[in-house]
Amino acid sequence: MNRRNFLRATGAAGSVAFFAASPVAQAVAGSMDKSTLMGFKAIPASTADTVVVPEGYVAERLISWGDPLFVNSPAFSQSNDSKAQEMQYGDNTDGMTFFPISETRGVLVANNEYTNNEYLYTHQGKNISADDVRKSQAAHAVSIVELVKKDGEWQVNLDGRLNRKLTAYTPMEMTGPAAGHDLLKTKADPTGTKILGTYNNCANGQTPWGTYLACEENFNGYFAASEEVELGKTYKRYGVRDKDWGYDWWKHDERFDVAKNPNEPHRFGWVVEIDPMDPNSTPKKRSALGRFKHENAAMAINDDGHVVVYLGDDERGEHLYKFVSKNKYKPGTHASNRDLLEEGTLYVAKLDGKEGELKGNGEWLELTFGKNGLTPENGFNSQAEVMIFAREAATHVGATTMDRPEWVAVHPDNKHVFCTLTNNKYRGVRENQPVNVANPREKNPYGHIIRWEPKGGDHTATDFEWDLFVVAGNPEVHEGLMAGTSNINKDNMFNSPDGLGFDTAGRMWILTDGKYSNKDNFAGMGNNQMLCADPTTGEIRRFLTGPIACEITGLTFSPDGKTMFVGVQHPGENLAPSHFPDGGDSVPRSTVMRITRKDGGVIGA
Ligand code: FEO
Ligand code: CA
Ligand code: CA
Ligand code: CA
Repeated sequence: MNRRNFLRATGAAGSVAFFAASPVAQAVAGSMDKSTLMGFKAIPASTADTVVVPEGYVAERLISWGDPLFVNSPAFSQSNDSKAQEMQYGDNTDGMTFFPISETRGVLVANNEYTNNEYLYTHQGKNISADDVRKSQAAHAVSIVELVKKDGEWQVNLDGRLNRKLTAYTPMEMTGPAAGHDLLKTKADPTGTKILGTYNNCANGQTPWGTYLACEENFNGYFAASEEVELGKTYKRYGVRDKDWGYDWWKHDERFDVAKNPNEPHRFGWVVEIDPMDPNSTPKKRSALGRFKHENAAMAINDDGHVVVYLGDDERGEHLYKFVSKNKYKPGTHASNRDLLEEGTLYVAKLDGKEGELKGNGEWLELTFGKNGLTPENGFNSQAEVMIFAREAATHVGATTMDRPEWVAVHPDNKHVFCTLTNNKYRGVRENQPVNVANPREKNPYGHIIRWEPKGGDHTATDFEWDLFVVAGNPEVHEGLMAGTSNINKDNMFNSPDGLGFDTAGRMWILTDGKYSNKDNFAGMGNNQMLCADPTTGEIRRFLTGPIACEITGLTFSPDGKTMFVGVQHPGENLAPSHFPDGGDSVPRSTVMRITRKDGGVIGA
């Protein structure tokens, strides 16, 4: 069956308004309109070692790994030690938020997800010393830096009072149902509430009361065991093993030796709330949002004032979650908002529909101790345990396995929610991940974006309807669903959507973390990139292409929409031939780019 016939057979237009607007449905009817929301000229795919933006746009570097955060920070050198790295911008820039303070002052908060040993050290990670570990832990960070608008451009202000570096050893406080639980207690912290550090923060979120949410993702890759140890199924489910991913922290920091500190892994995998306006504040880990490999935290304020946070767990066959606060939001920065993420209900998604259709209905299943079989007979003894082992609780209640939920984004209409499902080589391959209605492709090499609308526009409702906004693919190589939905063509094809965000006008920005081989199944896609989509018409246009072997991730705007900040992560990973951004024979460095328009207009318009 060719692609058009497949869609005709499966994507029949539904009767409700939500599906009438679906690009899948529109494509079937042959009525996909050209967007009036997007005013730029699409750019071609690229394999160049640079950032390319459309005609009339300028891409400039704002800050790179190792650049100073303070007036007295040392300049970048690959041989910088841990003390220097503590005072510099961290590595592998990822999710970020710009918080405006005035017309000419604001603060940029950004995750520095991880490090690449091949560039972090002059010795490329051989024989890691204690200071090397400390340097790595300082490069894993949340960097906070003030920006000022000078000469019409937002620039880093090294003198900013709010500049701060949070590292993998900054003191933090655990809050919510898991705080103080036995499973969180260690020799160094018998209270189970005082945790050192946050690391591997992938994407992010922000609250309307002015705080930043950092989301701990692949925390498991840092634990190893110095001696034989029995790690049961609760460790396996989170990928905690007796071997780490090569960071070697465990060799010089006992916290990461799971033979000596079996509870330390329970202290990571959380969402961390940070107040960027108070440089002396202690970040708070929010255990009510569950422990898994968090991608981002997308917040919606429901019409009734409840705070709803949508959360993806980025692992093959894991799940999509939402948190609903117990208490209600009071507009502004009211003090009572400060604890809204401390108490509430966590849910996990179960998606249904007719086989072969790219749409259906869904249900949010509650993850509350004593409900839905989350009881001692089934191994759950408290709400703390349900949160610490949220993945197992989700499986127990019958959650749908997804193709790696990455970023969730809420449309500014506050009714439609989107999530990138980046790819999943195990779909239809592993027994526990059969092809399902919302993840319809075996091995899913290209990824897709799902969209849902809560019943009655109420984010606290347990029912929703969903469809697939786009199924990425390669129409030059394949027919059928591997070619992608009809809003994919030879000029805009991409793979592995990951970052996702809206600007205030409702343009949806898609950032990719995919295969950049540019050959075979990925021929014509080039380097990782950013695209812009019109959620109403379904049209997608390529807006930016990144340098060699990078991921494009992290997105935030100035309030006027005239400056976009976007991250270039790990250019040249695995020693690929990139020298971005410095050129010559320099070490490639993760970099936040500042995008503006030559005519001073709004980005994307
Ligand atoms: Fe850090 Fe799921 O990407
Ligand atoms: Ca990501
Ligand atoms: Ca990814
Ligand atoms: Ca990455």
